[in-house]
Amino acid sequence: MSEHYDIETKTEIEIVKHPLVQHKLTLIRDKKTGPSDFRQLLREISLLLAYEVCRDLEITRSDIATPLEKMSALKLEGKKLCLISILRAGNGLLDGMLDLIPAAKVGHIGLYRDPQTKIPIEYYLKLPDQIDERLCIVVDPMLATGGSAVAAVHRIKQAGGRRIKFVCVIAAPEGIKLFSEAHPDVPIVTAAIDRELDENSFIRPGIGDAGDRMYGTK
Ligand code: PRP
Repeated sequence: MSEHYDIETKTEIEIVKHPLVQHKLTLIRDKKTGPSDFRQLLREISLLLAYEVCRDLEITRSDIATPLEKMSALKLEGKKLCLISILRAGNGLLDGMLDLIPAAKVGHIGLYRDPQTKIPIEYYLKLPDQIDERLCIVVDPMLATGGSAVAAVHRIKQAGGRRIKFVCVIAAPEGIKLFSEAHPDVPIVTAAIDRELDENSFIRPGIGDAGDRMYGTK
């Protein structure tokens, strides 16, 4: 239920078209959906996006015993994963993914868009150790201008990150273009690519401001 294609660059873009994802996305788009339902739906979407983004995680074999016999069974390879949330709204995807991958290490990057310039301003950074050995899954519901995601991935690379994926719920074509030019090596997983950015750099038709809708702020 997924689609792979390129937009002008070699960046791998996956749109998760599973009906459950698309249904829940429609519900969070609806302006009548309040913060509690918005957070719950985002959490549910994150589980389904995690399923896709983890498709190629490394697995290994382990000797176990079922109630009937011994066997060599598959399990995830050790400590090689970290989830990195772009604050604030990234936490809406992070929590669900952590339920699914509880052993993952977690990083946070605090960024907000300056309301006038739309340039991302960093106010917090905490990343796990041995980041060069981990698959880093960066999460943020929205890729609008792409400035925040570009800056976040840049900081992760500065810290040594080499294998990075970016997961969002909706992306604007403008953001995909900027991101893929800056980080052509970083695949994008999204539930939708929307039509465009408006003059205020909001994604149209979009979901509004994910952080504000999650927390009931303006
Ligand atoms: C929103 C969103 C992304 C960013 C996307 O965050 O959650 O982080 O904007 O925009 P960009 O692609 O143009 O950088 P915001 O700055 O509103 O901060 P918040 O998550 O704290 O609400």
